[in-house]
Amino acid sequence: MNRMPLSVPRALSALLLAFALPVFAAHHESGETMPMMAKAPEGFTAVAVLIAGNDSGVTGKVTFTQTAEGVHVQATVTGLTPGKHGFHVHQLGDLSKADLTSTGGHFNPEGHDHAGPMAAMRHVGDLGNLTAGADGKAMADFVDPKLALAGPHSIVGRGVIVHAGEDDLTSQPTGAAGGRVAGGVIGIASP
Ligand code: CU
Ligand code: ZN
Repeated sequence: MNRMPLSVPRALSALLLAFALPVFAAHHESGETMPMMAKAPEGFTAVAVLIAGNDSGVTGKVTFTQTAEGVHVQATVTGLTPGKHGFHVHQLGDLSKADLTSTGGHFNPEGHDHAGPMAAMRHVGDLGNLTAGADGKAMADFVDPKLALAGPHSIVGRGVIVHAGEDDLTSQPTGAAGGRVAGGVIGIASP
């Protein structure tokens, strides 16, 4: 007789807890994914000045500017052999080895396979190929939706690499693009 008034509040609080816990967990999960969406202010620009890997003679410059649609990439590279050259953001901004292997592998914070720039799942650093003309000059101008200039996916402080050969967009984990003919460190640009 006197058990009912006690057990009803108990059942109620157990019920509340059962509903409240998943809600808390959902909030916690979204709290973890939110920083990946971090975006630099529009107009924020980073730059990488490319130096030659070994004695390739390849040099250039790449700028990355935050826009509403994504990161606007503009590249000018000279001294290349005519044709396609793999173009990626690598994990590290370390040019201390002459062959530029000190920049590590492709920047891949989500642990996906290597792919082309249009793939839904790819390395964040997979920017496809630059195409050089007969004069050895390659230019690129595109907006990429996966690059970031702030947050855990930020490419600031990492490396940009241009390869000797073509990225086939499928071979793992690098697209079989060959050696590294030029590379630079992505830093905050002078205004
Ligand atoms: Cu690469
Ligand atoms: Zn890749």
